[in-house]
Amino acid sequence: MQKKFPEGFYWGAATASYQVEGGIENCDWAAAARDGRVPPCGRACDHYHRFEADFDIAKSLGHTAHRFSIEWARIEPEEGKFNEVEIEHYRAVLQALHNRGIKPYVTLWHFTLPLWFSESGGFERKDAPVIFARYCAHVVDRLADLCGAFSTMNEPEVFASNGYLRGTWPPFLRFTLTDRVAITNSGRQYEAKSSRGLGPFWRYLRVNKQLAKAHNAAYQAIKRVAPVVDVSVVKHVIVFAHNGSWFNRIKAWVANYVWTYRHGNRVYRYCDSIGLNYYFYTQFGDTRSWKKTDMDWNFAPEHIYDALMMLARYNKPLFVSEGGIADEDDSDRAEYIKRQVAGTHRAIQSGADVRGHMYWSLLDNYEWALGFKKRFGLVAVNYETFERTVRPSAYVYKEICDQNAVLE
Ligand code: BGC
Repeated sequence: MQKKFPEGFYWGAATASYQVEGGIENCDWAAAARDGRVPPCGRACDHYHRFEADFDIAKSLGHTAHRFSIEWARIEPEEGKFNEVEIEHYRAVLQALHNRGIKPYVTLWHFTLPLWFSESGGFERKDAPVIFARYCAHVVDRLADLCGAFSTMNEPEVFASNGYLRGTWPPFLRFTLTDRVAITNSGRQYEAKSSRGLGPFWRYLRVNKQLAKAHNAAYQAIKRVAPVVDVSVVKHVIVFAHNGSWFNRIKAWVANYVWTYRHGNRVYRYCDSIGLNYYFYTQFGDTRSWKKTDMDWNFAPEHIYDALMMLARYNKPLFVSEGGIADEDDSDRAEYIKRQVAGTHRAIQSGADVRGHMYWSLLDNYEWALGFKKRFGLVAVNYETFERTVRPSAYVYKEICDQNAVLE
């Protein structure tokens, strides 16, 4: 019998502003690119000007939902000054989705910081939660008539660890002991020139706390201006599993606590729902040799099941806000998606209240410190001509969306 998803389940794909829009020069990543520490982003996919055509493609692929993010530096280019022209731009983006019957999921902050904020200390600033909440409330106040689902932030744990422990992302602080545990990023070409020391560790802990406070403050500020919108946080869950030995059991427990639950426990009371970004499964004591994706990550899409079940403990509606594969020749993407969707279905059967599934990403895009080489898109982008080409796997995903069911 066909394994169906609940009626009204949302299907779509995700993007993030800096990775696809192009033309953003007043944020910390653009400054880092000017300093030669990360690849330049330039016009990216020029999605800022091509969103209508891109949403036509999403629609033609059967998508009923779309997750995208707002670029904070566009909206608040100077501290406390909001740019209405850019608000109008995002209103047009939301309108374009509505016109196509696609439900928007808006993320208010996806990694990049306005320069004035990063240069004055970013989330280490004492008043960062207040500043962040003010920005979030302003945007939601202006967009709530066109959108019912807002995530305050994307993957706070990734932002903090890459910036303050590994030193690969702005502000490039590296904790000396990180070398022992860091997951490698294959294919990095730019020298991050990170500052090493023991200090980053304390700053990392502080930023983590500040991010939780910022989310909680933003939740409350948003509810004051738009009480009925759904407010969530988007969490990156690494599934740390074990081979059964007591030592590895303890390791997995500690790792899951530190990576997922520590932050989750701090914010879940201020979440109407939770978004899951899933990419990693790793087992302590594993002797299997895994097939790898183009990112050199284990090919383990079905373990999205474990990630969803980990978040289910918070008893909130969940949605898959990201999950996907870098696969330049598109030889493995269809299989990856099918297995990821099957894992999601299994989690629903086991009691997780999952409401939607968004593949990462609609388009090939700027993969942060790795630049444009890694290709996650259902749709390929030619970065010279900006031509879009739908990959064959996108039609397999379309079948899933159309049938609202697992494809065996
Ligand atoms: C991030 C995306 C990123 C993707 C693939 C997620 O952690 O939210 O911005 O492109 O993973 O690495």
